[in-house]
Order: sequence, then C-alpha cells, then structure tokens
Amino acid sequence: MDSQKLTLTEIAELPRQGKRIAMVTAYDAASARLADAAGLDVLLVGDSAAMTVLGHDSTVPVTMEEMLMLTRAVARVTRRALVVADMPFGSYQLSEDEAVRNAVRFVKDAGADAVKLEGAGRTLTRISAILDAGIPVMGHVGLTPQSVTLLGGYKARGRTAAEARRILDEARALERVGCFAVVLEAIPASVAAAISESLKIPTIGIGAGSSCDGQVLVWHDLLGMTSGHLPRFVKEYAHLSETIRQALEAYATDVREGRFPESQHTYAMPDQELARFESQLAGGTRRSADTDEPRNR
Ligand code: KIV
Repeated sequence: MDSQKLTLTEIAELPRQGKRIAMVTAYDAASARLADAAGLDVLLVGDSAAMTVLGHDSTVPVTMEEMLMLTRAVARVTRRALVVADMPFGSYQLSEDEAVRNAVRFVKDAGADAVKLEGAGRTLTRISAILDAGIPVMGHVGLTPQSVTLLGGYKARGRTAAEARRILDEARALERVGCFAVVLEAIPASVAAAISESLKIPTIGIGAGSSCDGQVLVWHDLLGMTSGHLPRFVKEYAHLSETIRQALEAYATDVREGRFPESQHTYAMPDQELARFESQLAGGTRRSADTDEPRNR
C-alpha cells in the first residue's frame, strides 16, 4: 500500500487532535487528482453519481458495474485520501453473501479502501458480514437517498423527538457493529451534535450542522456545477458552470471565426521535408478522388 495513504486510525485520530475530517465526492480521475492534491481526507465515490454524472433523477438506478468503473478511476490516481465506494441500491439488500461479494469487488477489483452502506435496521447484518470479510464500512443515517420513495421525499429527518431518538439509536448500532465512521445527512444540528457527542467513531455531516467531526459535500454542488435546485445545506465555493460555459462559448466562437488553432497550437515539419512532400504532390503521386476504389462494393 502507498505509504502516504491515510489509514483508518489516522482518520479516527483527526477529531481527537481537534481537526475536522474533510470529505468530498469524486467520480473520475481528474476530480480525484484535484481533491487529493488539495488535501481532502476522504474521497467518496458516491452513488450520487447516478444524478451528477449519469443524468438520472435519483440515486437508485446506478449499477454495480457503473460504480465499479467510477471507483477504479478514482482509486487509480488517489495517493493520500481514503477512497470510500458507495454500495449502490440493490447491491447489498438481497443477502449477506451478495453484500460481501459486491463489497469485495469494490476493494479487490476497483481499489477502494472502504465501502459505505445506507441505513441501519436490516443493513446491520450486511455490514457485519462485510466487516467479517475484512472490509472497513462507513455507515449513513438520517436522510438516506436510496430509500427516498419509502421515506416520502428529500426532506430533513429527525425533526421529532421520536425520529431523532431513532436516528441516534441507529448511529449507535452502526458504531456497535464496527463501522469506522458514520454519515449524518439532513438532520437538525442539535440532533447531530448529540449523536456526535455520544459516539466514539467520527460523524461526517451533510446538512447536519457544525458539530460533526467532519463534513462532506457533493463535488458538483460545492463547485457550482449543479443545475436546478440546491439543498439549503450546500455552500458553493465556486461557480464553475458559468466559467465552463463561457470557456466553451469562447472556443466555439474562435473555431467558427478561424481564430483557433494559432501557430503555437500547430505542428511544423522541417522545410526540406515539406519541399519534398510538395514536389511529390506536384508529381501527381496524390491519389485523386476519381482513381479511388469505390468504398462499398
Ligand atoms: O452519494 C453521495 O454523494 C452521498 C453523500 C451525500 C454522503 O452519499
């Protein structure tokens, strides 16, 4: 293993040293290189790729093969950050065997360091089985997008005492079973603070306030590349959609008006070779269109 790689112990140590864990999603080699170079601690190959990369309107349709391909690209170039692969909907719900088989594929075939599963309840036995196979697991409670239809939409969770208590119990169960960290998504800051206080493993918040041990945002949201509705918990640190659109428009205009490419973007050849080439052309060695063989016989 690469010696620069952050270990699970080092990740767990960060909050104890008063440092917060910085996590972001990444779905390809270019974004992973940038995030790793920027010093992010954890890169999540999120099933949000279904929406951000593949154009679906929920996380549910993304397949194992698609997630494996994205994870390979991220893991291949990441030197320091921990790479966590999100197990897609349907890859761990059917049986423990299936959950372990798929988790092994993420680690062995795609190079992930750990996997993430949504929910507690029945997911707990799947997490136990994956941990027994020696694969680290990150949990995820609160708003769990894979069950959004069942839960009645993309709404904050834990806004009643009973639901807050249930999420706390779920987070505790995830710790008990052996998760190394747990994502808390879209829950009141006060509930996330109580959960973070009660757990020894790090909590990673997304829409869960500032008391969590770390934060995660979706790449496209953070960089201003999401079109349409943004959840209130998103902070855009750049407006790349606009920057990219302007660059593409400038390129298209330059191409149409003959301003690109310029001489510095163009390959030259030695004068002697060019003269030889031109004399070959003048000598008629160039095949004319009417001597060409017909293409489709
Ligand atoms: O898939 C994803 O991007 C996630 C984060 C929102 C935690 O699960």
